[in-house]
Amino acid sequence: ARTRQTAPALLAWYDRHRRDLPWRARPGERPDPYHVWLSEIMLQQTTVATVGPYYARFLQRWPTVAALAAADLDAVLHAWQGLGYYARARNLHRCAKAVAGEHGGRFPETEEGLLTLPGIGGYTAAAVAAIAFGAKATPVDGNIERVVARLFALETPLPASKPELRRLAGLLTPETRAGDFAQAMMDLGATLCRPKAPLCLACPLTAFCAARAAGIAETLPRRSPK
Ligand code: ADE
Repeated sequence: ARTRQTAPALLAWYDRHRRDLPWRARPGERPDPYHVWLSEIMLQQTTVATVGPYYARFLQRWPTVAALAAADLDAVLHAWQGLGYYARARNLHRCAKAVAGEHGGRFPETEEGLLTLPGIGGYTAAAVAAIAFGAKATPVDGNIERVVARLFALETPLPASKPELRRLAGLLTPETRAGDFAQAMMDLGATLCRPKAPLCLACPLTAFCAARAAGIAETLPRRSPK
């Protein structure tokens, strides 16, 4: 029941409560792969609130992946200042050059194709494939790990549990709307299924949540001592 009912319940909740974030297309509209990719790179290790103004400035200055590819690396690094992790900005620029130079300005549409690009790892490939192209792919970030660990009451500690969490997240992913599903999981993790004091009473998945039933939601996911 859990694996069958989670996606429909979560998508119904998302349709009513989705956060209106600048990189999200309006419901029914096709997202721009460049926008999805840029936002996902920026959102790695940086909060939604911080990313907002950077994202807007980048798009204003470099409206297309071709424009970003033609930019000076120094200008990109300068515009990145404050987001941290400069390797991300260098890879961003390299990736834009690869897309513009080797792929005719269009992002590959599959996870495997996306994985060949600089700076695109498993998480980003799955996120762009699902959100931009509607592929059945499942990006798993820290928020989604927490939601899945709780749904299944998985007590194996991180990081050893990562492969199992990815497998379980894949089982939950619907054939259609995989991008909305991923973003709904992110929203749920950010707003209700929080690390501390989760708001289980407002959660659309409470009936399917094994950790909630066992009274251990707040204790999950467990983490191995370093
Ligand atoms: N964190 C990473 N990607 C995100 C997205 N698409 N929406 C909200 N939070 C995110």
